[in-house]
Amino acid sequence: MKTDDILMCPGPNDIADRVLRAMIRPATAPGSPEFQEVFEQVHERLAQVFQTSNQVITVPGSGRTGLESAILSVLEPGDPTLTITAGYFGSMAIRIITNAGGKADEISFPWGEPLDLERIEEKIAQGGYKLVTMVHNETSSGALYQEAGAVARMAHQHGALFLLDAISSLGGAPLPTDEWEVDLCVSCSHKAMASPIGHGYVAVSDRAWSVMEQRKEPCRSTFFNLLNWKAQPSEEAVGGRTHRRPQVVFSSVHVYYALHEALQMILEEGVEQRWNRHRINAQAFREGIQALGLKPLAKPEIASPTVTCIPLPEGIRPADFLQKLRAEHGIYTTRGLGPYRENAIRIGHMGVTAIPRCILHTLYAMESVLASFGYPVSPGAAVSRAGQVYAEAQQHQPEIGAVP
Ligand SMILES: Cc1ncc(COP(=O)(O)O)c(C=O)c1O
Repeated sequence: MKTDDILMCPGPNDIADRVLRAMIRPATAPGSPEFQEVFEQVHERLAQVFQTSNQVITVPGSGRTGLESAILSVLEPGDPTLTITAGYFGSMAIRIITNAGGKADEISFPWGEPLDLERIEEKIAQGGYKLVTMVHNETSSGALYQEAGAVARMAHQHGALFLLDAISSLGGAPLPTDEWEVDLCVSCSHKAMASPIGHGYVAVSDRAWSVMEQRKEPCRSTFFNLLNWKAQPSEEAVGGRTHRRPQVVFSSVHVYYALHEALQMILEEGVEQRWNRHRINAQAFREGIQALGLKPLAKPEIASPTVTCIPLPEGIRPADFLQKLRAEHGIYTTRGLGPYRENAIRIGHMGVTAIPRCILHTLYAMESVLASFGYPVSPGAAVSRAGQVYAEAQQHQPEIGAVP
């Protein structure tokens, strides 16, 4: 990456200078009172973004270690599970479940299409499942599934825990963890949270803690066993707090400093304002893309506020398109996945890149790259259409164009 390139991957995505600079601090021990205070605050702030009063655990790694720790902590060999899939990332839970000795059942929907809640309810009612999992924001197709609350209720009615993969939505889309009664809400640092790669997060409900506490066989993982991370009432209160969170591994002190600052930025902006900013910038991007004659993969009613998957015109290879986008316009992103690997690209408009400056530049760059491949474009149409979306939005929310 050159320093002025923009990282518009669907994760990792760009990081604000303020967050990067927060890491320029002297080394300290994870057990120092100074760091413990930061550690406590990070978890309190994360809970605010998750909209939860549940404990949030930060597991070292990335989104997938968050998923793995959540699944390993509740699942015992032979436990039946159901995974709802509508893209590439749904299947990640299936791999983890199978490796953990669980029985993985799947109900799948076409990429970019809405879910059918009746079919899901029927399946859950028949299955006797211990765990039901689904993805909130399917990063492979660019679709957001807001029915998680309804699915959680179905799971609970039939005695199952509910795991939601909110890896590419936390910080970029409404995620009412408590209202939806999510038992294991999983996310990570480097997508819409706009922080460096380093952690998976899991917000754990009381229902999930009690399943962990009542296991017949102990969890087979030491460092991914969430029970080992559970905050305990502290004999010696730190910073006036009554809970102390165990640090089960040596904490990556500087990554926490960055996350602390990223969370500060989110709370300064306000979570609702941030969700609106993502929604409007995503809309501007999608409408701009359509003005170029392209069509996002996900159906408009479920279009994601953080990522768009765009099938390319026939004959243009994603590798060639992305190479030009990067070399000529300084935009770094990635191709589609699974069946869209050879014919689509994905743009992450999340965190610090969900702003007009990045959206308008990307639209201009895409238009220019398409034209260089001989695809007929109407010059300026994409930027102009996006500009109209911003103008309409600004009538209601004058601050929407502001860089946070
Ligand atoms: C929805 C979803 N789930 C899981 C993952 C895996 O997370 P990570 O790559 O951070 O380990 C990703 C990554 O893109 C994702 O988008």
